[in-house]
Amino acid sequence: MRILVTGGAGYIGSHTVLVLLQSGYDVVVFDNLCNSSRKSIERVSSIVERQVNFVEGDIRNPEELGSVFSKYHIDAVIHFAGLKAVGESVQKPAEYYDVNVGGTAKLLLAMQKANVSRMVFSSSATVYGVEAPTPYVESLPRGSTSNPYATSKAMIEKMLEDQSIAHPDWSIALLRYFNPIGAHESGLIGEDPLGIPNNLMPFMAQVAVGRRDRLAVFGGDYPTPDGTCRRDYLHVMDLAEGHVKALESLYKSGCCAYNLGTGSPVSVLEMISAFESETGVKIPYKIAPRREGDLAEFWADPLKANQLLGWSAKRSLNQMMADTWRWQSQNPDGYN
Ligand code: NAD
Ligand code: WQD
Repeated sequence: MRILVTGGAGYIGSHTVLVLLQSGYDVVVFDNLCNSSRKSIERVSSIVERQVNFVEGDIRNPEELGSVFSKYHIDAVIHFAGLKAVGESVQKPAEYYDVNVGGTAKLLLAMQKANVSRMVFSSSATVYGVEAPTPYVESLPRGSTSNPYATSKAMIEKMLEDQSIAHPDWSIALLRYFNPIGAHESGLIGEDPLGIPNNLMPFMAQVAVGRRDRLAVFGGDYPTPDGTCRRDYLHVMDLAEGHVKALESLYKSGCCAYNLGTGSPVSVLEMISAFESETGVKIPYKIAPRREGDLAEFWADPLKANQLLGWSAKRSLNQMMADTWRWQSQNPDGYN
């Protein structure tokens, strides 16, 4: 079975490509490399000792997409390609809707033309909106989103639901990720953000490796046990394995959403202390003002993915820290 992986050179995509290859799937990666490096795919190749088909192209370009579908017989698509920085999406809404929403519409048209009707989509916990009660459960409606990135994910979910209603033979899994962190245990692939990291784990890892002076903890006065925000951090390899489970579920038609998270919230201060105790490296930090738009806490109810996909997150917080540190210390400048 051959899977087209859009955005497969990126952080989550490269780990998923690795797990797909190790599970016996053939893979074609389609990525325009706007936020990634070809080296991620070369390293995946070296781990699995197999060539990986790579096509450089943009999901907004019907010709480039069409030529991939004509060159390769594709059975299903895992769709990671998109822009993902919340703050940037507020500055550049048109670009975010163009790539995320417009690009996905172009991908659907190309799939229709090639008679490919199975898709796993990278959605996000952010679609629950700013007022949903925790833990988030899939039976909640999508909520009111607070930035163009989140709105683009909610719009794509709706588009995919409409597609599956109009075409009852289609099968689509919407995977709502919580906070993926960590890296493959080899230390050869990992998260390599361009510029100053927006997210906690890569920022902390860059402080640890000496690229940044100290971590700003955004807010110490939230109504949480230690005053800092709590999130549901999951290991990127668990997340990658969730995609294979979701692919296996696509023999049934329809469009179905699943939370992929651990079900346990962890605070920012607990993250710092887990990193320090696992790696022995101190993280200098300072409590700073709250970051605009942050929610105090949210985490997943992961029961549906467990019952219907047979998936649950297995790797511990300590392992997430150890694997992040192995990647960051072996590759202080990422793929550069
Ligand atoms: P990433 O930026 O590392 O990967 C996205 C990939 O898509 C990159 O390789 C990029 O070059 C590619 N891409 C972007 N625009 C493209 C286009 N027009 N055509 C072709 N390729 C394009 O991000 P990631 O963290 O691996 O996230 C993957 C997906 O998961 C994204 O859709 C993201 O929104 C979603 N997601 C991520 C998180 C997270 O915390 N990392 C959480 C929830 C959902
Ligand atoms: C985690 C916690 C921060 C950086 C974002 C997106 C979400 C999803 C995942 C895609 C928060 C705190 C962070 C720092 C800090 N992406 N923090 N200092 O905000 O939960 O989710 O990424 O769908 O849509 O919004 O993740 O890693 O940015 O923050 O104190 O330098 O760490 O305040 O409490 P977040 P994050």
